[in-house]
Amino acid sequence: MSAPADNEVGTGTGVRAPRRARIAERTLRTDRWWLPPLLTTLGLATFVVYATIRAFVRTAYWVPEYHYLTPFYSPCVSTSCVAGSSHFGHWFGDFPSWIPLGALVLPFLLGFRLTCYYYRKAYYRSVWFSPPACAVAEPHARYTGETRLPLIVQNVHRYFFYVAMIVSVVNTYDAVLAFHGRTGGFGFGLGNVIIVANVVLLWAYTLSCHSCRHITGGRLKHFSKHPVRYWMWTQVTKLNNRHMLLAWTTLGTLVLTDLYVMLVSSGVFPDPRFVN
Ligand code: FES
Repeated sequence: MSAPADNEVGTGTGVRAPRRARIAERTLRTDRWWLPPLLTTLGLATFVVYATIRAFVRTAYWVPEYHYLTPFYSPCVSTSCVAGSSHFGHWFGDFPSWIPLGALVLPFLLGFRLTCYYYRKAYYRSVWFSPPACAVAEPHARYTGETRLPLIVQNVHRYFFYVAMIVSVVNTYDAVLAFHGRTGGFGFGLGNVIIVANVVLLWAYTLSCHSCRHITGGRLKHFSKHPVRYWMWTQVTKLNNRHMLLAWTTLGTLVLTDLYVMLVSSGVFPDPRFVN
């Protein structure tokens, strides 16, 4: 594989900058270094396509018998939402068909994931090829990192984290309301297991955030003088070690939860009930 043409310039900060070693090949690696970026791209693209379609279809997002609400439509605060699905009331009138019913939080959730330190690594490597893999030259002539627009916006991740905490509370509230029986009162089915598992994992992903770790234990000179924050920091650190795993797992549980609600709501199969 030949070196990128823009690296022939011999200036700037790319791999052909004056102080870099002169290597004609883009990489000397002979293993399948391209496989992880390819799988990452396919995984992310699959989720984006599925989530986009589901966010706009406006059907099968609510199971009235059991009060199951898909997380993609929560909170549903428009008068366009189907009866019963607006757990927090109606804040807006009808949404035109091109606005998703979950539009209130979808931009923040998207922003939270897009600016996540793990996802940045994933799509910088697999989509932006910056660089595609260790010891594989990137195709870009210059490297400016996150020091200018648009990537400097990545630094607002902490604020998306605060909103994500609120959304996790909303999802938890939805999960509690979903313990609803067919004829009212308490009920419990397979849908509850899936919804609760999704909420628990979303909490784990959110709390494992690098910003959360910094908020709990950052800027301290002496842990010994802040035992409570130190304890919180150690717990968050344990989760933080699994942040990549949680990032992928929650993409899967979000799709699974939405798919389950959609299939039960559409009458494809009934929800197996353990109580009522
Ligand atoms: Fe991934 Fe904050 S670093 S969610």
